[in-house]
Amino acid sequence: MEQASQERGEGARRVRIGMLGCGTVGAAVLGLLAEHHERLDRRVGATLEVAKVAVRDTARARPVGPELLTTSVDEVLADPTIDVVVELIGGAAALEWIERALEAKKSVVTANKLLLARHGGRLVELASRHGVDLAFEGAVGGGIPIVRTLREAFASDHVISLTGILNGTSNFVLSKMLDDGASFEAALAEAQALGYAEADPTLDVGGHDAAQKLEVLAMLAFGARPGSGCSLVEGITAIEPVDHRFAARFGYRIKHLVIGRDHGDVIELRAHPTLIPERSVLANVSGVLNAVLLEGRALGPCLVYGRGAGGAPTAVSVVADLIDVCRSVAAGVRGLGTRGIGLRERQVAASAASESRYYVRFRVADRPGVMARLAGALGSHAVSIEQMVQDGEPVRPGAAATVVMLTHRAREAQVQAALAELRPEGFLIEPPRVLRIEQV
Ligand code: NDP
Ligand code: HSE
Repeated sequence: MEQASQERGEGARRVRIGMLGCGTVGAAVLGLLAEHHERLDRRVGATLEVAKVAVRDTARARPVGPELLTTSVDEVLADPTIDVVVELIGGAAALEWIERALEAKKSVVTANKLLLARHGGRLVELASRHGVDLAFEGAVGGGIPIVRTLREAFASDHVISLTGILNGTSNFVLSKMLDDGASFEAALAEAQALGYAEADPTLDVGGHDAAQKLEVLAMLAFGARPGSGCSLVEGITAIEPVDHRFAARFGYRIKHLVIGRDHGDVIELRAHPTLIPERSVLANVSGVLNAVLLEGRALGPCLVYGRGAGGAPTAVSVVADLIDVCRSVAAGVRGLGTRGIGLRERQVAASAASESRYYVRFRVADRPGVMARLAGALGSHAVSIEQMVQDGEPVRPGAAATVVMLTHRAREAQVQAALAELRPEGFLIEPPRVLRIEQV
C-alpha cells in the first residue's frame, strides 16, 4: 500500500496523525502540538494534522474538539488517510493495535515500555518489513533524550556499560522518604497524584518498569533482542527508614538503579535498589529526575539527565519522535530510522554469577555468639566482611538488635548461600535484608 498522504494526492503537504489515548501523556502531546504547530510544521515541511483521538470516555473535556474523539481504536487503525499512529494507552493490549498499524504501513510512535521489553524485536522487524518507523523515545526516561543519544550520538562508539535511575516514581518515593521523612505510602500517593506512576504502580515500586526500560536500552546499547528479561529485578518496597540511616552512616545513599554491562560473551542486566557513594552524580539525582550514565569505549563517560516521568516531559519526547517520523513521511523516506536498529540474541548472565559489594542487615536476638555465627556463615562461603556495626542503642541481653555488615566484593551466589545457611537460626527475628553496593 502506498503512503496515505500520497494516496490522497497531497504530496508532502499534510501528515495525518491518529492518537490512541489522551490521558496524562496524550493530553500533554496534544497541548504541545497545538502550542508549537507553526514551528513543528516548518521543521517537518508539512502540516501536522490530528485526525482522530481514541479514548474510553468521549464525554470528558479534552484538548481537542469532540468531533475528533472516538471510543473505537479500530476506527483510527482502519482510517486510510492516517499516516502515523501515536499509541499512548499503554499495557499489553496495545500489541495488536501497534502490529495492525505497522502492517497497514502506518509509522508508530509509542511510550509503551512494557510492550517494547516483551516484543520490541518483533515490532522493530515488522516496522522494517513494512517500510515504516517505530519510534519510542517516550518509553524510557520520560523527557530525557536517551534513546536518541544511543541511536544517534553513540552510533560510532561501543557502549561498555550503562548505569541509571529510570523510574521516576521510585526515585521520588526514595527521595521523599530520605529528605522529608515521608512514609512509603504517602510518597507513593503523591507520585500517583502527580501523574508519574503507572496505572498499576506495583510496576514502578516493584522494579519492573525500570527493568523493562533497561531491556529497551539494551536493544540500542548492546544490540540485544529484548524478551529474555533482566537477571535480577527488585523494587523499593522492602527499603525501610533504617536502611537509609545505615547507608548514610557509611557514606552512601540508596537509589533504585538499572545496571547494564557488555562483557563480550554475555551481557549483565540488573534492576535493584543499590547503595552508591553519597557524593556520586547519581546519588544526587532526586525526586522525579532520571539519569543515565553511559560509558563508551571511545567517548568515555556521558551523562543524560532530566525529568523522567509526567505528562509534559514525556510529551516532549513523543513530539520529538513525531517530528522525526512525520518528516520521514513528508520526505518519502519512511522506515529509515528503524532499519538501523540491528538486533541479535545476547545471553543475559545469571544473577548468581554477578559480583559486587553487599550491605546485609540482620535483625537478631542480641545474645552471645550471634555475631560470631553471622560472620562465620559469611566467612565459610568466602564472603569477607569489610565493616560491621550494631545499632548504637544499649540493648538488654536477649533483646532485638540490628547488625549491619558491609562486605568486600563477592559473588551473588556466595552471599545467598551464606544467608541460606543462616535461615534456620532461631536468633534471626526477620529475614536478612540484602542490598548491593556499587561505586558509580
Ligand atoms: P493514562 O492512564 O493517563 O492514559 C491512558 C489513556 O488511554 C486515556 O486517555 C484512556 O482513556 C485511554 N484508553 C485506555 N483504554 C482505552 C481503550 N480500550 N480504548 C481507547 N482508549 C483507551 O496513561 P499515561 O498517559 O500515564 O500513559 C500512557 C503510556 O505512556 C503508557 O504506556 C505509559 O507506560 C507511558 N508513559 C507514561 C509516563 C507518565 O509519566 N505517565 C511516562 C512515560 C511513559 P480515558 O481518558 O477516556 O480514560
Ligand atoms: N511510571 C514511570 C516512572 C513513568 O515513574 O518512571 C515514566 O516512564
